[in-house]
Amino acid sequence: MIKKYAFGTPYETEAVIADIPVNTGDVDYFVTSTEDGLKFSLQLQKKDAVYGLGESVRGINKRGYIYNSFCADEPNHTEATRSLYGAHNFIVIEQADRTFGAFFDCPTTVTFDVAFTKADELLISSECTNMYVYIIEGSTVYDIIRQFRGAIGMSYIPPMWAFGYTQCRWSYLSKDEIREVVRKHRELHIPLDAVYLDIDYMERYKDFTIDEENFGDLEAFAKEMKEQNIRLVPIIDAGVKIEDGYDVYEEGVEKGYFCTDKDGKPFEACVWPGMTHFPDFLNPEARRWFGAKYKILTDMGMEGFWNDMNEPAIFFSQNSVDKTAQMVKEMADKEFTIDDFRTLQGYVGSRQNCEEDYSGFYHNTPQGRYCHKDVHNLYGYNMTRSAAEGLKEAEPHKRFLLFSRASYIGMHRYSGIWTGDNHSWWSHILAELRVLPGLNMCGFLYVGADLGGFGCECSRDLLLRWLSLGIFTPLMRNHSALGTRYQECYRFENPEDFKHIIDLRYRLIPYLYSEYMKAAKNGDMYFKPLAFEYKDDETARHTEDQLIIGNEIMIAPVYTQNAIGRYVYLPEDMTAVRMNQGNLTFTQMTKGHHFVEIAENEVVFYIRKGKAIPLCKSAESTSELNTKDLELIGTGNEYLLYTDDGIGFDIDNPENFVTLKK
Ligand code: GLC
Repeated sequence: MIKKYAFGTPYETEAVIADIPVNTGDVDYFVTSTEDGLKFSLQLQKKDAVYGLGESVRGINKRGYIYNSFCADEPNHTEATRSLYGAHNFIVIEQADRTFGAFFDCPTTVTFDVAFTKADELLISSECTNMYVYIIEGSTVYDIIRQFRGAIGMSYIPPMWAFGYTQCRWSYLSKDEIREVVRKHRELHIPLDAVYLDIDYMERYKDFTIDEENFGDLEAFAKEMKEQNIRLVPIIDAGVKIEDGYDVYEEGVEKGYFCTDKDGKPFEACVWPGMTHFPDFLNPEARRWFGAKYKILTDMGMEGFWNDMNEPAIFFSQNSVDKTAQMVKEMADKEFTIDDFRTLQGYVGSRQNCEEDYSGFYHNTPQGRYCHKDVHNLYGYNMTRSAAEGLKEAEPHKRFLLFSRASYIGMHRYSGIWTGDNHSWWSHILAELRVLPGLNMCGFLYVGADLGGFGCECSRDLLLRWLSLGIFTPLMRNHSALGTRYQECYRFENPEDFKHIIDLRYRLIPYLYSEYMKAAKNGDMYFKPLAFEYKDDETARHTEDQLIIGNEIMIAPVYTQNAIGRYVYLPEDMTAVRMNQGNLTFTQMTKGHHFVEIAENEVVFYIRKGKAIPLCKSAESTSELNTKDLELIGTGNEYLLYTDDGIGFDIDNPENFVTLKK
């Protein structure tokens, strides 16, 4: 059962699409205060757990830290980081005698102090006084999540090829560079389905333009790539470059489709293209206009997109430049001290994505004119909705790959997300594993991190270990930043080790795709914490470095350097499947603690007792994958397989499910 409560005049975020009447009583479970904003407090016992919050740092159980739900352009994902790119305000609280869910639907900052300030208090607070609160009651954590997912609508379904391995780099600078990336993968038989185009494919970073010198005749190039079963996936950034003669800029100004400053003039801020205007994605007409532009690229053969810088990221505004110049001038007019230097250094840093800029522009929404700061968390969501609706209009019968950096619950109906600018750090393998279930709880199923790490330098062993987790994430993309070491698999010694790991991914696609579709259609999770699956097992409840994938398998990847293996906890008897040099061997293992040796070039995963999973033969792309020729492995005798054409919308056809028997 879901109860909905309203405070003030909430902004209709369209996160929840189910029609739920507003309850006029007090919010269940929490002590509510409306003094100085809104506060919801709950006493926690020592053993109570709080799950959820989607894209956030730290553990699967969120206890012990404070999180700000505020879409942030934040490349430093450390333990101390309070906000990442997504704002996902759904939690499930598990107490000794009751379990319930709560969703705080508010498009500006909401703080979740999960037994941080006070060790026994969960305090959710916001300065905002306009909010819907939903309380969800159910018999189990899964029941609560299923009800919530039912209320927010079905998750985005990517095309099947989007389960292939994909390669990115900021940036491949020319068609020839991309040809070389593809050639190397094909030559070494490392499977590959797509290559991304980062910002340099554009002319001066202008959305929906092509750099003619290096990417001219993109349509012919897309065709050439498609002949090798490779898709191209361009990036689209939120900011539109201010440049006379650039049609997107001129149309946007003429039609009043950009966010405006307090005087009603288009707001200006600097992002990759230089000074830009931000399309007003909260205005349905502007949304339609921008979304229709994706057709320029789909007409050239593009079948996927990634939306970026859509928190929106602001490097600086003219206001910041003026204020900094003034500060420097005042300092230069007197003796320049160490304190001045520090003040200046701190000040310049603080101007990026600053609150003053987010308070300085406005949206023209059907619900009235809103200051950006008050609806901040909806920007990336509505940019991506604009893209999804535009793509649907352009090619109604085709599923596109689409994922975004910023997000809010509701966007999960339109696309997936990637978890932004992580680093080539070992701790970020574990961070990825831990963030996945929370994302699923909030509806985001098509998810993945930059494999190998975006920032810093990636080593061979780090990439191998990270790929061993990445083969289980729906989005499987290797991506790295400008200036870092190139980290395509073939850059390292013994590339066949990488090939074998990625081959295993392709062998698992019939399973991963089926489990994805089941999770999407039933409002279930694709990544499950052991705590949800084995709730009466105290050890399983506290194991936060292993996950259940779908219904049949468990993973326990290695995430530390120079390890020869790791401790694994089996909450039940399982079959260990070991991939070594492309060969699979099976070992029956008993419930309990084990040390499992796993070499860098091996992958070990576990099939649950009495369960079976399908495997196909590997192929160099999903287009060549034979998903009809399957073998079942594991101790079970059957598996419920999902198949469709992988690209259309015939997803409700009951014939898509077939029971495979041994
Ligand atoms: C941002 C994105 C990253 C991209 C870069 C250049 O940092 O998060 O993925 O490569 O911008 O476009």
